[in-house]
Amino acid sequence: MTELQGKVAIVTGGSKGIGAAITRELASQGVKVAVNYNSSKESAEAIVNEIRENGGSAIAVQADVSYADQAKHLVEETKAAFGQLDILVNNAGITRDRSFKKLGEEDWKKVIDVNLHSVYNTTSAALGDLVEAEAGRIINISSIIGQAGGFGQTNYAAAKAGMVGFTKSLALELAKTNVTVNAICPGFIETEMVMAIPEEVRANIVAKIPKRRFGQVNEIARGVVYLVKDGAYITGQQLNINGGLYM
Ligand code: CAA
Repeated sequence: MTELQGKVAIVTGGSKGIGAAITRELASQGVKVAVNYNSSKESAEAIVNEIRENGGSAIAVQADVSYADQAKHLVEETKAAFGQLDILVNNAGITRDRSFKKLGEEDWKKVIDVNLHSVYNTTSAALGDLVEAEAGRIINISSIIGQAGGFGQTNYAAAKAGMVGFTKSLALELAKTNVTVNAICPGFIETEMVMAIPEEVRANIVAKIPKRRFGQVNEIARGVVYLVKDGAYITGQQLNINGGLYM
């Protein structure tokens, strides 16, 4: 039995990459997890089965969280299954990397909608329940790119920086409640997204990381558990897990 036993979490984009590691780490602490996915039905169902086989509780919920009504549905399904909501992890994100001169309005809007507008949607839908929780937690998975910028990533950087501003402002507004709001800013983590970067670009990135390696997904997931478990006095912060790439 851990102190998180029986808490309920939503992890958006929770079936792949960093999201899947967060889902697994929370479940291993006894948290009941709603694994949100948009199109990755198979991987969502696989992770839910894995958690159940290990004695945990999880459900898979399809929702494109860039739409308000679907984000609301995600929260409602979670409450219908588990009766409460304590933890919201806004992890869903995509890239559409293009140099700015080639970036169409559609590439701009899609990345802002999925990565940032989604945070507004899920938080709006979940806030009433989080405030009711004994210790509500909102954790926004931002990125080093929102802090340092990235070539070909004006859309992604704007969305990720937006998440940080959102985090600080909401933390101020909720400081009088039991809800804390924080961001985690991962550096380059070994995921499909990072492994899709052209190889020569990837080699240049590793060469610049003081720790000389990409991060692992569970190194981010353990940051989430830390903020959830021991974070009562931590709010409005950015937890940088990046091998020293941005200080
Ligand atoms: N720094 C400086 N110059 C760069 C560059 C860089 N990182 N990348 C490309 N260029 C230069 C090229 O050398 C080329 O120069 P010349 O014209 O002088 O030859 C020029 O920019 C090419 O510009 P284009 O507009 O033609 O760009 P492109 O279509 O070739 O592709 C790109 C640009 C899509 C950004 C490509 O470089 C790329 O995919 N880069 C990787 C982007 C990246 O690192 N994304 C991170 C994804 S992971 C992530 O985001 C997770 C997280 O949170 C950390």
